[in-house]
Order: sequence, then structure tokens, then C-alpha cells
Amino acid sequence: CGIVGIVGHSPVAPLIVDALKRLEYRGYDSAGVATIEDGRLDRRRAEGKLVNLEKLLQGEPLGGLIGIGHTRWATHGVPNETNAHPHFSEDVAIVHNGIIENFAELRSELQAEGFQFTSQTDTEVVAHLVTHELRRGRSPQHAAFAALKRLNGAFALAIMFRGDEDLIVGARNGPPLAVGHGDGEMYLGSDAIALAPFTDSITYLEDGDWVVVRRSGMEIFDISGSRVERLRQQSVGTSFLVDKGNHRHFMEKEIHEQPEVIAHTLAHYLDFAGGGVKSFDTPIDFAKIDRLAVSACGTAYLAGLIGKYWFERYARLPVDIDIASEFRYREMPLTKASAALFVSQSGETADTLASLRYCRKEGVPIATIVNVRDSTMARESDGIFPTLAGPEIGVASTKAFTCQLSIFAALAVRAGLERGTLSPEEASSHIRALSEAPRYAAQALKLEERIEKVGRELSQVRHVLYLGRDTNYPLAMEGALKLKELSYIHAEGYAAGELKHGPIALIDEQMPVIVIAPCDRIFEKTVSNMQEVAARGGRIILITDEEGAVRASLDSFETIVMPTVPELIAPIVYALPVQMLAYHTAVAMGTDVDQPRNLAKSVTVE
Ligand code: G6P
Repeated sequence: CGIVGIVGHSPVAPLIVDALKRLEYRGYDSAGVATIEDGRLDRRRAEGKLVNLEKLLQGEPLGGLIGIGHTRWATHGVPNETNAHPHFSEDVAIVHNGIIENFAELRSELQAEGFQFTSQTDTEVVAHLVTHELRRGRSPQHAAFAALKRLNGAFALAIMFRGDEDLIVGARNGPPLAVGHGDGEMYLGSDAIALAPFTDSITYLEDGDWVVVRRSGMEIFDISGSRVERLRQQSVGTSFLVDKGNHRHFMEKEIHEQPEVIAHTLAHYLDFAGGGVKSFDTPIDFAKIDRLAVSACGTAYLAGLIGKYWFERYARLPVDIDIASEFRYREMPLTKASAALFVSQSGETADTLASLRYCRKEGVPIATIVNVRDSTMARESDGIFPTLAGPEIGVASTKAFTCQLSIFAALAVRAGLERGTLSPEEASSHIRALSEAPRYAAQALKLEERIEKVGRELSQVRHVLYLGRDTNYPLAMEGALKLKELSYIHAEGYAAGELKHGPIALIDEQMPVIVIAPCDRIFEKTVSNMQEVAARGGRIILITDEEGAVRASLDSFETIVMPTVPELIAPIVYALPVQMLAYHTAVAMGTDVDQPRNLAKSVTVE
């Protein structure tokens, strides 16, 4: 999931491990590093976290002024040492992110040539393929190029050759890869954050690019082998130190940053003093379109689902919302009067990117709500709506989500104004409500102690149901997603009204039911659904406001009493207790909160 390469002038192994630590946030399950020293290619690989690799290196250090390193998120083959990268083939060492789709075919071909495979990975075929080309008399650079032309799929690669201690070849077709420019040293990395300790001067490869990196500099080529120029830019990732501050986990820190980053994000789009919308650039003319196609993955998808409610309600603009892995293949017709909006924290998620490219072919305007401003999706969109959340390190998205919601709300208000479905007065009142979101979010954080207690109780159960209506229905799904990804407790989010059509069969004394229900115009409906749960002995945990707590009028339920907030901002503010609940349940269970098992932050494979 993370790649680092250095051609340097001091021993690189410790530097590579440090850079890999900065990529830890992407999630991984094994790691490795290889170097060349005095003509000898050597490697250390370890299952599990980077500390295991560090321990190994302490016992058996690796010298060498050139090296490549990798954190792996298993796709083909279990996460053990044998499958960990770098992979070797004679004089070639290689690290790889992504999936080589035609690996089975290539493997049979190479096996027929007499190559022996030692791992279950798709990566090993690339190493042998390069060796195969070297044996045919090609130079390292040309052998790498010849091998690249045979690969299908999504990949970022770094390749090193025994016999040339001043060369790393990198390639990108899908997952991101950046070149870092140093002083007599050069670097490769999955992102600018990894390279931040070394340099802030970065060149991003584009899809199909491959690069020859030497101490003296680099040359980039496209897939036809022609030399291409790519912009060298000052990275924005550098000022950021990977630091939890005084928090136990990045996730806790990121939850607590929300009042600030929501304020920061909203201020980019809304004029709080004047009660209007700022004139930010948008490639989407909301007055002219008659449909908006939104697609995203995971938590970003759930932000889109809430956005749909707002666009349809306030701007009377129909929204089609899709999970990107479905959208990319379902051949949805897009008319001339449509526009496409994508949502992604990383801007690199493979399925969302593929959906964006589908829409590009369909010829509709494309915008992306994105946190990483120099990401692939940001570059390929006609325009972006940046979330100003700052780097999000915890694998489970928190602050990016509430910032995405803030932008959806601001865009819905702008669209409402432009389409004439909101009067300036109505818009101002929504903007006033939004301006209060950071303050209410800060109040919600004060409930942490109470939520921690509920989290400890939840850590004892195996199943949890989340219910909500309207915009709190996607939030119920987000609550369930957060709980399962962090604590591995099975959880489902349902529309409260749908309970009686199936999930009610699950209710018994063992089943906690978390109801997200501010006292709004449909609160009474949700209360009826709670009655149905109570009647069957289910344990209700109600997240509501003061009036809701009084009006719920049930005999036994636990409540988390939130500040009373305007309806528009409820899902933004209620996201915080939902996140804290998952967080504290996971802490009580002792799981790896920032890097839950099997998950990755930036999913650049299908
Ligand atoms: C992964 C992460 C999720 C995230 C999803 C979409 O699955 O674990 O937290 O919501 O990817 O990522 P994106 O970067 O596109 O928002």
C-alpha cells in the first residue's frame, strides 16, 4: 500500500523505514526493505507492523546507499513474510502497489521459461518478467520498460537492479507515485507525506508514466517511451508532522479537530457576516442542470447520501447517488443536462476515479469534493470543492466526513439560490444555521465521558443495530460502518421505518439499538419505531436533544443528550457522538483504532 525508494549518499534503510512510517496511515499488514551494498542485493521483510521490521533490522542491519521499501496490504496471498515485498528475481528487486490483472497468464508463460515462483503474489511476475528481459540483453531501463508494456491492471512500481547502484525505475498506472528532488539524492514515494522529511520538491507521475531516477536527477517517459515533462511543484504535505499531539490515537485527535476544520471549510464557501454564499468557482451550473450524479465509496458515499437529501429538499435538484464500484460498471446514461460530483478524502480511490473517468467519456461537467488537493481525482476534475480538514491519518474517516457534509450543505444552499427554490432570506437562515455547526460540534465533544461509558457497554456485545430517519438514516449507516470497521462488532444501519420489514426479527434482550433522532418534524415517527423495539425487549440507546429525551416517553432507554440544533446541521453535529461511540467501543476492546485489521486508508485497487 506504500512505496518508498531512495538513491542517496548515506545508508538508506533507516530512512526508508522512517518514510514507511509516514505511510502507515494507509493501512498495511506486512513490510519490507531491500538495499544494494557493494554489489550485494539484500532484504529484510516482516509480517505485521513496522516495529517488527525495525526489530529485524536492529539484529541484522542493512547497509547500502540505494534502496526500496514497502508496506503491503494483502491482495494476492496472505500477509506473511514470503509474500511481503520487496520481491527478488536474480538481479532485480521490486515493490508494487495495486493489482496485476494478467498475472496468471504471465506466470504460466514465465514458468514455461523455467522461472521458479516463491510467493503467491502477483508482484513476483513483474520481477521475473524484468529478469527475462535482462537475459535477452536489454539494459535495466529498457528491460523495465519492456516488462511494463506487458502489464495490465493498476500498479505503482519501484524497481532496483544489482549492478547499477544509481538507478531506480518507477512506474505508475493507477495508484499514485511521486518523485522527490533532493540535493544529490532522489526519492520515490507514494505521496508527498512520505517524502516530507527529505524534500518538499515533488513531481507526480501521471497514469502511464515511468521514470528513471538517479542521484543526478530523473527523466520521465510515457508508455510509448517518449520523454515527457511533468510539473515540479512545492508539496503542501511538508508542513505537517505525523504527530498525535497529546491524543492516544490519530482518530481521537481528528474527532477533536472537527469544530475547527468544519469552521475552516464552511468559511471557504459561505459568507457568514453577509449571510450569503461566496462566489467560489464551480464547473457545475446548478441552475442549468436537471440531474446530479454523485458517487463515492465508504464514508464518503454516506456523505453523498446525506447530500442527496439536501440537494433534493432545498434545491429541488434530483440526485442519483451510487457506490462507485457499482457506478463504474452499470452504464448509467447521463444526459447533457447532467453533472457529476465525486466525493473522496484521498482523491485516489480506484473505483471513484474510474467512475470519474466514465463521466469524462460521457462528456458531463465533473467536480470533486476532495481533501487531498494534489490527488489524481483533483487533477482530473473540471473543478474541485476542497475540504479543508488537513491530513486525515486514521484509516476510518471522521473529520473529512463532516467537512464533506459541510460542503454538501453549502452547495445545496447555493444551488437552491441559483435555482430559485430558496429565497435569499431562507438561504441566509440556513447559512446562519451552518455558522453554528462548529460551536455545536464543540458542545457535542463534551459528551465524551458519557459516550465512553456507553462504549464500554457496547464492547460486550456482538451485534448492534443503528436506526435513523431522513438525513439521520445515512448517519445510522455511518455509525454502523464506523463500529464494524473499528471494533469488528457486527452492526447494521437501517431506516427506522424499514425496521418492521425485516430487521425487527433480530430484536431480543441482547440487541442494543442505537437510535439517532433529534426532535425534528418526524421525531414522533421514530418514537413509534422505538416502541416496537422496546416491546420486544431491545436495549435502546437514544441520541437526541433535550426535548427528544422528554418526548421519547419510554420506560427504559439510555440517552445521550445533545444540544438542540437546527435541522439542517443535525447530521454534521450528530456525526460526532456516532464517531466517539465507535472509537470508545474499539478502545474498550483494545483493537488497533488507527489501523483496523484488513482495512486501508487509500484503496487504489478494485
Ligand atoms: C477506505 C477508507 C474509508 C473511506 C473509503 C473511501 O475504505 O477506509 O474510511 O471512506 O476508503 O475513501 P476516499 O479517500 O475516497 O474518501
